[in-house]
Amino acid sequence: MKKIGIVTSGGDAPGMNAAIRSVVRTAIYNNIEICGIYDGFKGLYEKNFSYLNSRSVSGIINQGGTILKTKRFYEFKEREIREICYKNLREEQIEALVVIGGDGSAKGAYLLYKEFNFPTVHIPASIDNDVYGTDYTVGFDTAVNTAISAIDRIRDTATSHERIFIVEVMGRECGNLAFEVGIVCGAEIVLIPEVPFNIDDVVKEIKEEEKKGKKSCIIVIAEGAIKAEELTEILKEKLPEREIRYTVLGYIQRGGSPTYLTRKLATIFGVKAVELLIERQYGYMVGIKGEEIVFVPLSEVVSKKKIPKIEYMDIVKKMAI
Ligand code: F6P
Repeated sequence: MKKIGIVTSGGDAPGMNAAIRSVVRTAIYNNIEICGIYDGFKGLYEKNFSYLNSRSVSGIINQGGTILKTKRFYEFKEREIREICYKNLREEQIEALVVIGGDGSAKGAYLLYKEFNFPTVHIPASIDNDVYGTDYTVGFDTAVNTAISAIDRIRDTATSHERIFIVEVMGRECGNLAFEVGIVCGAEIVLIPEVPFNIDDVVKEIKEEEKKGKKSCIIVIAEGAIKAEELTEILKEKLPEREIRYTVLGYIQRGGSPTYLTRKLATIFGVKAVELLIERQYGYMVGIKGEEIVFVPLSEVVSKKKIPKIEYMDIVKKMAI
Protein backbone atom coordinates (compact mmCIF):
# COMPACT_ATOMS: atom_id res chain seq x y z
CA MET A 1 0.00 0.00 0.00
CA LYS A 2 1.49 3.33 -1.09
CA LYS A 3 -1.10 5.95 -0.28
CA ILE A 4 -4.09 6.19 2.06
CA GLY A 5 -6.62 8.93 2.79
CA ILE A 6 -8.00 10.06 6.11
CA VAL A 7 -11.27 11.89 6.77
CA THR A 8 -13.23 12.98 9.86
CA SER A 9 -16.96 13.27 9.38
CA GLY A 10 -20.24 14.03 11.20
CA GLY A 11 -20.20 15.76 14.58
CA ASP A 12 -16.72 16.37 15.96
CA ALA A 13 -15.66 14.52 19.10
CA PRO A 14 -12.76 15.02 21.50
CA GLY A 15 -9.96 12.62 20.54
CA MET A 16 -10.48 12.90 16.78
CA ASN A 17 -7.17 14.75 16.61
CA ALA A 18 -5.43 12.08 18.66
CA ALA A 19 -6.79 9.48 16.22
CA ILE A 20 -5.63 11.53 13.21
CA ARG A 21 -2.16 11.81 14.75
CA SER A 22 -2.03 8.08 15.32
CA VAL A 23 -3.17 7.18 11.80
CA VAL A 24 -0.76 9.67 10.18
CA ARG A 25 2.25 8.55 12.18
CA THR A 26 1.51 4.84 11.77
CA ALA A 27 1.17 5.32 8.03
CA ILE A 28 4.42 7.28 7.77
CA TYR A 29 6.19 4.72 10.00
CA ASN A 30 5.19 2.14 7.36
CA ASN A 31 6.30 4.34 4.43
CA ILE A 32 2.75 5.06 3.34
CA GLU A 33 1.86 8.49 2.02
CA ILE A 34 -1.14 10.05 3.73
CA CYS A 35 -3.63 12.41 2.17
CA GLY A 36 -5.79 14.51 4.49
CA ILE A 37 -9.34 15.00 3.23
CA TYR A 38 -10.80 18.22 4.66
CA ASP A 39 -14.45 18.96 5.55
CA GLY A 40 -15.65 15.38 5.84
CA PHE A 41 -17.23 13.63 2.86
CA LYS A 42 -17.94 17.07 1.38
CA GLY A 43 -14.17 17.48 1.00
CA LEU A 44 -13.99 14.11 -0.71
CA TYR A 45 -16.62 15.32 -3.19
CA GLU A 46 -14.89 18.67 -3.72
CA LYS A 47 -11.36 17.25 -3.72
CA ASN A 48 -10.34 19.29 -0.72
CA PHE A 49 -7.09 17.36 -0.22
CA SER A 50 -3.81 18.20 1.47
CA TYR A 51 -0.92 15.88 2.25
CA LEU A 52 0.11 15.32 5.85
CA ASN A 53 3.44 14.55 7.40
CA SER A 54 4.58 13.72 10.88
CA ARG A 55 4.90 17.40 11.79
CA SER A 56 1.37 18.21 10.52
CA VAL A 57 0.05 16.34 13.55
CA SER A 58 2.44 17.72 16.17
CA GLY A 59 0.88 19.17 19.30
CA ILE A 60 -2.67 18.03 18.56
CA ILE A 61 -3.03 15.02 20.87
CA ASN A 62 -4.45 17.30 23.57
CA GLN A 63 -6.76 19.34 21.32
CA GLY A 64 -10.50 18.88 20.95
CA GLY A 65 -12.19 19.18 17.55
CA THR A 66 -10.57 17.99 14.33
CA ILE A 67 -7.75 19.65 12.39
CA LEU A 68 -9.27 18.09 9.23
CA LYS A 69 -12.55 19.93 9.95
CA THR A 70 -15.90 18.24 9.46
CA LYS A 71 -19.28 18.87 7.86
CA ARG A 72 -22.73 17.34 7.81
CA PHE A 73 -22.89 16.32 4.14
CA TYR A 74 -26.35 14.83 3.61
CA GLU A 75 -25.79 14.69 -0.16
CA PHE A 76 -23.53 11.66 0.42
CA LYS A 77 -26.76 9.64 0.71
CA GLU A 78 -27.10 9.98 -3.06
CA ARG A 79 -25.42 7.33 -5.18
CA GLU A 80 -24.29 9.82 -7.88
CA ILE A 81 -22.48 11.90 -5.25
CA ARG A 82 -20.74 8.80 -3.91
CA GLU A 83 -19.67 7.88 -7.44
CA ILE A 84 -17.91 11.23 -7.77
CA CYS A 85 -16.25 10.72 -4.38
CA TYR A 86 -15.01 7.30 -5.54
CA LYS A 87 -13.74 8.77 -8.81
CA ASN A 88 -11.88 11.47 -6.85
CA LEU A 89 -10.20 8.85 -4.67
CA ARG A 90 -9.06 6.91 -7.76
CA GLU A 91 -7.83 10.05 -9.53
CA GLU A 92 -5.74 10.97 -6.51
CA GLN A 93 -4.43 7.39 -6.43
CA ILE A 94 -5.61 6.93 -2.87
CA GLU A 95 -5.68 3.18 -2.29
CA ALA A 96 -7.61 3.03 0.98
CA LEU A 97 -9.49 5.32 3.34
CA VAL A 98 -9.64 5.70 7.13
CA VAL A 99 -12.97 7.24 8.17
CA ILE A 100 -13.19 8.70 11.68
CA GLY A 101 -16.67 9.51 13.02
CA GLY A 102 -19.95 8.22 14.39
CA ASP A 103 -22.67 5.93 13.02
CA GLY A 104 -23.28 8.08 9.91
CA SER A 105 -19.59 7.97 9.07
CA ALA A 106 -19.58 4.19 9.52
CA LYS A 107 -22.39 4.08 6.94
CA GLY A 108 -20.33 6.22 4.57
CA ALA A 109 -17.30 3.94 4.95
CA TYR A 110 -19.52 0.89 4.45
CA LEU A 111 -21.12 2.24 1.25
CA LEU A 112 -17.76 3.07 -0.35
CA TYR A 113 -16.61 -0.46 0.45
CA LYS A 114 -19.81 -2.22 -0.59
CA GLU A 115 -20.64 -0.30 -3.76
CA PHE A 116 -17.17 0.27 -5.19
CA ASN A 117 -15.17 -2.37 -3.37
CA PHE A 118 -13.04 0.52 -2.14
CA PRO A 119 -10.87 -0.43 0.87
CA THR A 120 -12.09 1.39 3.98
CA VAL A 121 -11.70 1.09 7.71
CA HIS A 122 -13.69 2.99 10.31
CA ILE A 123 -12.64 4.44 13.68
CA PRO A 124 -15.71 5.09 15.87
CA ALA A 125 -15.58 8.62 17.29
CA SER A 126 -18.67 10.24 18.77
CA ILE A 127 -19.75 11.68 22.09
CA ASP A 128 -23.00 9.68 21.75
CA ASN A 129 -21.42 6.21 22.09
CA ASP A 130 -24.15 4.93 19.81
CA VAL A 131 -22.06 2.80 17.46
CA TYR A 132 -22.82 -0.91 17.47
CA GLY A 133 -19.91 -3.32 17.98
CA THR A 134 -17.74 -1.31 20.34
CA ASP A 135 -18.14 -0.71 24.07
CA TYR A 136 -16.79 2.81 23.67
CA THR A 137 -16.36 5.40 20.96
CA VAL A 138 -13.53 7.94 20.91
CA GLY A 139 -14.74 11.07 22.72
CA PHE A 140 -17.42 9.50 24.89
CA ASP A 141 -15.35 9.40 28.08
CA THR A 142 -14.43 13.06 27.64
CA ALA A 143 -18.07 14.09 27.09
CA VAL A 144 -19.14 12.14 30.19
CA ASN A 145 -16.48 13.91 32.24
CA THR A 146 -17.47 17.31 30.86
CA ALA A 147 -21.09 16.65 31.83
CA ILE A 148 -20.03 15.43 35.27
CA SER A 149 -18.22 18.66 36.07
CA ALA A 150 -21.17 20.73 34.83
CA ILE A 151 -23.76 18.75 36.83
CA ASP A 152 -21.62 18.76 39.98
CA ARG A 153 -21.81 22.56 39.81
CA ILE A 154 -25.53 22.50 39.14
CA ARG A 155 -26.03 20.30 42.19
CA ASP A 156 -24.45 22.99 44.38
CA THR A 157 -27.06 25.52 43.36
CA ALA A 158 -29.87 22.92 43.35
CA THR A 159 -29.05 22.04 46.96
CA SER A 160 -28.67 25.65 48.10
CA HIS A 161 -32.00 26.73 46.62
CA GLU A 162 -33.78 23.42 47.20
CA ARG A 163 -34.75 23.30 43.56
CA ILE A 164 -35.52 20.63 41.01
CA PHE A 165 -32.97 20.83 38.19
CA ILE A 166 -33.51 19.24 34.81
CA VAL A 167 -30.33 18.73 32.82
CA GLU A 168 -30.55 17.89 29.12
CA VAL A 169 -27.66 15.87 27.74
CA MET A 170 -26.84 15.30 24.04
CA GLY A 171 -26.95 11.92 22.33
CA ARG A 172 -29.47 12.26 19.53
CA GLU A 173 -31.78 9.18 19.61
CA CYS A 174 -29.46 7.28 21.93
CA GLY A 175 -29.56 7.45 25.73
CA ASN A 176 -26.05 6.13 26.44
CA LEU A 177 -24.48 9.47 27.29
CA ALA A 178 -27.36 10.62 29.53
CA PHE A 179 -27.56 7.22 31.20
CA GLU A 180 -23.88 7.02 32.18
CA VAL A 181 -23.84 10.67 33.22
CA GLY A 182 -27.00 10.22 35.30
CA ILE A 183 -25.59 7.24 37.17
CA VAL A 184 -22.24 8.81 38.01
CA CYS A 185 -23.70 12.22 38.93
CA GLY A 186 -26.15 10.64 41.35
CA ALA A 187 -29.20 11.90 39.45
CA GLU A 188 -32.45 11.05 41.21
CA ILE A 189 -34.20 10.42 37.90
CA VAL A 190 -32.83 9.58 34.44
CA LEU A 191 -34.96 9.62 31.29
CA ILE A 192 -33.68 8.03 28.09
CA PRO A 193 -35.42 7.19 24.80
CA GLU A 194 -34.85 3.44 25.16
CA VAL A 195 -36.92 3.23 28.36
CA PRO A 196 -40.54 4.35 28.06
CA PHE A 197 -41.64 6.68 30.87
CA ASN A 198 -44.71 8.56 31.90
CA ILE A 199 -44.75 11.99 33.45
CA ASP A 200 -47.09 11.03 36.28
CA ASP A 201 -44.55 8.47 37.47
CA VAL A 202 -41.87 11.16 37.40
CA VAL A 203 -44.10 13.44 39.51
CA LYS A 204 -44.85 10.59 41.93
CA GLU A 205 -41.14 9.85 42.26
CA ILE A 206 -40.33 13.51 43.03
CA LYS A 207 -43.08 13.63 45.68
CA GLU A 208 -41.83 10.43 47.29
CA GLU A 209 -38.30 11.80 47.42
CA GLU A 210 -39.61 14.97 49.02
CA LYS A 211 -41.31 12.85 51.73
CA LYS A 212 -37.96 11.17 52.37
CA GLY A 213 -36.47 14.59 53.08
CA LYS A 214 -34.90 15.27 49.69
CA LYS A 215 -35.41 18.95 49.07
CA SER A 216 -33.52 19.14 45.80
CA CYS A 217 -33.44 16.85 42.86
CA ILE A 218 -31.42 16.35 39.67
CA ILE A 219 -33.21 14.91 36.65
CA VAL A 220 -30.91 13.99 33.77
CA ILE A 221 -32.65 13.60 30.43
CA ALA A 222 -31.39 12.51 27.04
CA GLU A 223 -32.23 15.02 24.31
CA GLY A 224 -33.93 12.18 22.42
CA ALA A 225 -36.27 11.38 25.34
CA ILE A 226 -37.90 14.76 25.97
CA LYS A 227 -36.74 18.36 25.70
CA ALA A 228 -35.76 20.06 28.96
CA GLU A 229 -37.96 23.07 28.32
CA GLU A 230 -41.00 20.91 27.69
CA LEU A 231 -40.47 18.78 30.80
CA THR A 232 -39.93 21.90 32.90
CA GLU A 233 -43.24 23.38 31.77
CA ILE A 234 -45.11 20.16 32.51
CA LEU A 235 -43.55 19.74 35.95
CA LYS A 236 -44.18 23.39 36.85
CA GLU A 237 -47.88 22.79 36.26
CA LYS A 238 -47.98 19.55 38.19
CA LEU A 239 -45.78 20.72 41.05
CA PRO A 240 -46.64 24.44 41.41
CA GLU A 241 -45.16 24.60 44.92
CA ARG A 242 -41.67 23.59 43.68
CA GLU A 243 -39.00 25.76 42.06
CA ILE A 244 -37.88 24.14 38.82
CA ARG A 245 -35.04 25.15 36.52
CA TYR A 246 -33.39 23.54 33.51
CA THR A 247 -30.02 23.58 31.79
CA VAL A 248 -29.23 22.29 28.32
CA LEU A 249 -25.58 21.24 28.33
CA GLY A 250 -25.44 21.42 24.53
CA TYR A 251 -22.23 21.79 22.57
CA ILE A 252 -19.90 22.17 25.55
CA GLN A 253 -20.09 18.37 25.66
CA ARG A 254 -18.48 18.17 22.22
CA GLY A 255 -15.45 20.32 22.92
CA GLY A 256 -12.44 20.30 25.19
CA SER A 257 -9.20 18.48 25.71
CA PRO A 258 -9.59 14.69 25.52
CA THR A 259 -9.27 12.65 28.72
CA TYR A 260 -6.73 9.88 29.30
CA LEU A 261 -9.17 7.15 28.18
CA THR A 262 -10.20 9.04 25.03
CA ARG A 263 -6.58 9.65 24.00
CA LYS A 264 -5.61 6.04 24.66
CA LEU A 265 -8.52 4.65 22.66
CA ALA A 266 -7.89 7.09 19.81
CA THR A 267 -4.21 6.22 19.65
CA ILE A 268 -4.73 2.44 19.71
CA PHE A 269 -7.60 2.58 17.21
CA GLY A 270 -5.47 4.69 14.85
CA VAL A 271 -2.57 2.23 14.87
CA LYS A 272 -4.88 -0.78 14.42
CA ALA A 273 -6.79 0.88 11.57
CA VAL A 274 -3.65 1.38 9.50
CA GLU A 275 -2.39 -2.11 10.34
CA LEU A 276 -5.68 -3.55 9.11
CA LEU A 277 -5.25 -1.78 5.78
CA ILE A 278 -1.65 -2.99 5.47
CA GLU A 279 -2.91 -6.54 6.08
CA ARG A 280 -5.54 -5.96 3.36
CA GLN A 281 -8.39 -6.41 5.81
CA TYR A 282 -11.05 -4.04 4.51
CA GLY A 283 -14.58 -3.06 5.47
CA TYR A 284 -14.07 -3.22 9.23
CA MET A 285 -14.57 -0.96 12.22
CA VAL A 286 -11.93 -1.02 14.94
CA GLY A 287 -13.63 -1.32 18.32
CA ILE A 288 -13.10 -2.38 21.91
CA LYS A 289 -14.95 -5.10 23.82
CA GLY A 290 -13.86 -5.33 27.44
CA GLU A 291 -10.06 -5.16 27.23
CA GLU A 292 -9.90 -6.57 23.71
CA ILE A 293 -9.47 -4.63 20.49
CA VAL A 294 -11.94 -6.08 17.99
CA PHE A 295 -12.53 -5.75 14.24
CA VAL A 296 -16.21 -5.68 13.40
CA PRO A 297 -17.51 -5.98 9.81
CA LEU A 298 -19.07 -2.68 8.80
CA SER A 299 -22.12 -4.57 7.46
CA GLU A 300 -22.84 -5.54 11.07
CA VAL A 301 -22.03 -2.10 12.49
CA VAL A 302 -24.49 -0.34 10.21
CA SER A 303 -27.32 -2.85 10.53
CA LYS A 304 -27.48 -3.26 14.30
CA LYS A 305 -28.50 -0.90 17.06
CA LYS A 306 -26.52 -0.34 20.23
CA ILE A 307 -28.71 -0.65 23.32
CA PRO A 308 -27.73 0.83 26.69
CA LYS A 309 -27.53 -1.53 29.68
CA ILE A 310 -31.16 -0.98 30.64
CA GLU A 311 -30.72 -3.14 33.74
CA TYR A 312 -28.53 -0.35 35.15
CA MET A 313 -31.67 1.79 35.52
CA ASP A 314 -32.14 -0.14 38.72
CA ILE A 315 -28.93 1.43 40.06
CA VAL A 316 -30.42 4.91 39.62
CA LYS A 317 -33.48 3.85 41.66
CA LYS A 318 -31.43 2.19 44.40
CA MET A 319 -29.10 5.18 44.74
CA ALA A 320 -32.02 7.62 44.99
CA ILE A 321 -33.43 6.24 48.25
O1 F6P B 1 -23.78 13.06 17.15
C1 F6P B 1 -23.19 14.02 17.96
C2 F6P B 1 -24.18 15.11 18.28
O2 F6P B 1 -23.53 16.04 19.12
C3 F6P B 1 -25.50 14.65 18.92
O3 F6P B 1 -25.36 14.36 20.28
C4 F6P B 1 -26.37 15.82 18.61
O4 F6P B 1 -27.75 15.48 18.61
C5 F6P B 1 -25.93 16.22 17.23
O5 F6P B 1 -24.58 15.77 17.11
C6 F6P B 1 -25.98 17.68 16.93
O6 F6P B 1 -25.66 17.84 15.59
P1 F6P B 1 -25.20 19.20 14.91
O7 F6P B 1 -23.77 19.41 15.27
O8 F6P B 1 -25.36 18.95 13.46
O9 F6P B 1 -26.06 20.29 15.45
